[in-house]
Amino acid sequence: MKYILVTGGVISGIGKGIIASSIGTILKSCGLRVTAIKIDPYINIDAGTFSPYEHGEVFVLNDGGEVDLDLGNYERFLDISLYKDNNITTGKIYQHVINKERHGDYLGKTVQVVPHITDAVQEWVMNQAKVPVDDDRKEPQICVIELGGTIGDIEGMPFVEAFRQFQFKAKRENFCNIHVSLVPQPNATGEQKTKPTQNSVRALRGLGLSPDLVIFIHDVSSTYRVPILLEEQGIIKYFKQRLNLPIDDQPSDLLMKWKKMADRYERLLKVCSIALVGKYTKLSDCYASVFKALEHSALAINHKLDLMYIDSTELERSMEAENSVKYHQAWHKLCKADGILVPGGFGIRGTEGKLQAISWARTKKKPFLGVCLGMQLAVVEFARNCLNWKDANSTEFDPDTKNPVVIDMPEHNPGDMGGTMRLGKRRTVFKTQNSVLRKLYGDEMFVEERHRHRYEVNPELTHCFEEKGLKFVGHDTEGKRMEIIELENHPYFVGVQFHPEFSSRPMKPSPPYLGLLLAATGTLSAYLQRGCKLSPSDSYSDLSDDSSPEKEFPNSETS
Ligand SMILES: *[C@@H]1O[C@H](CO)[C@@H](O)[C@H](O)[C@H]1NC(C)=O
Ligand SMILES: *[C@@H]1O[C@H](CO)[C@@H](O)[C@H](O)[C@H]1NC(C)=O
Ligand SMILES: *[C@@H]1O[C@H](CO)[C@@H](O)[C@H](O)[C@H]1NC(C)=O
Repeated sequence: MKYILVTGGVISGIGKGIIASSIGTILKSCGLRVTAIKIDPYINIDAGTFSPYEHGEVFVLNDGGEVDLDLGNYERFLDISLYKDNNITTGKIYQHVINKERHGDYLGKTVQVVPHITDAVQEWVMNQAKVPVDDDRKEPQICVIELGGTIGDIEGMPFVEAFRQFQFKAKRENFCNIHVSLVPQPNATGEQKTKPTQNSVRALRGLGLSPDLVIFIHDVSSTYRVPILLEEQGIIKYFKQRLNLPIDDQPSDLLMKWKKMADRYERLLKVCSIALVGKYTKLSDCYASVFKALEHSALAINHKLDLMYIDSTELERSMEAENSVKYHQAWHKLCKADGILVPGGFGIRGTEGKLQAISWARTKKKPFLGVCLGMQLAVVEFARNCLNWKDANSTEFDPDTKNPVVIDMPEHNPGDMGGTMRLGKRRTVFKTQNSVLRKLYGDEMFVEERHRHRYEVNPELTHCFEEKGLKFVGHDTEGKRMEIIELENHPYFVGVQFHPEFSSRPMKPSPPYLGLLLAATGTLSAYLQRGCKLSPSDSYSDLSDDSSPEKEFPNSETS
């Protein structure tokens, strides 16, 4: 196993994660199996209790781990599936050590930061690095470790010390440290200033780690460009020598595909606009994965994504009285959009506006995708306006409704009394061949996607909907949980209980999102008729097959 530690200097938020994932991408394109670990020096143990107002999107992993966007970036760049334990926090390490202490594992000795905490960090990293993350379930060969925060933070000290020790344990050819820094260019002189970087490198050295490589990347038009820029700076050759890797110096086909993708991204002419009708907090990245999934799909069909954020409260009648300019602007945007997306959400505020948007998409035959709460609301809307159940509601918002079309359906696991949120990867089985989504998923019998919800469509009432044309085409394996809805006689009106955005990849766009973009650009039926192939002019096929030959290390295992 080879370990690449990525540290940051000067300030945070300079794209350390993107550089770390790009390094992984490059090595993966050389045929190596790559995994990633993100260290966040926080005391928190898991992200489940995070307030969405404060933290933006919660990203869900296959194993139900609730993490932040950074692991999502690794998954997307490296096309891998990570686990909860690929996120290390100070809190998790301390909890692990304290549990061992309680268990008597330290034989009553004094337990200290050095060596106990630092040892625990090293063990965790070594164990987690071995866990397969690819479809082929083989042990990874490279582990990229991103240390959050900047060098010199008090919180990060135990981790820096752990890696100082680890570099000797792992041996030189198996460990390297890359430092990502900021080089400001003040207006007055227009010169690049390297002083802050020199200082942070000095601080790192003082702590016993010396960076092998300090990377500077200028701001770029798209993150797809970063692996290409790194490659152009000769990084493949560098890693080959420094870590003694059995690879060629030349960039592989996979990297060429990234280059084509980045080039394509910069040259898009046609535009497709999607209205994202949600709830907005101060944070712009509340819907980061939804945005990425839309972007992957738009890119696949050679369109520039024009994403229009609409705050659903602004579509509500009450807004018309309060601020009619905002109200009309919001509706103008909605009407202009080529497609409408109602994503997952939380809280009752803005629900009415989302229902209005769904109604509009349904009656005006605008392509529509509802995700999680978005699907549930599509069912509520249909019940109220097509079944005439005027008070139909979700019990989340009205516990006493006479028409509970969406109800609390927690998941019961062996040994847990109360039932919990349905979280992580679960299977959805298609009930019919007559389903757009099934075709988009490559005519599979079932799909596996990630979930995060408690409320679901009430299975007792579904027959009433089906009679009127709203079909429940996908269920869970027991047939009790409604996973996918599709409306008849509509170009694309689809709802999914799961969150397909978490498994969208730049070169493998998520089918429900791709369907929305295809419908929004008027190309869905042609795509389906061609057997789900993109048109030759989009010629994406040369991008999507990634078959770089595998590389094995001769016999390079370390302790
Ligand atoms: C890791 O978990 C902590 C604690 O829940 C959280 O604060 C942090 O954002 C997570 N990091 C990643 C990369 O998911
Ligand atoms: C630097 O210059 C650019 C244009 O030359 C200007 O837009 C910007 O506001 C300036 N920034 C500062 C901090 O003076
Ligand atoms: C039911 O749902 C709507 C959303 O349309 C919400 O605004 C309403 O207050 C809910 N509850 C009741 C008791 O009607």
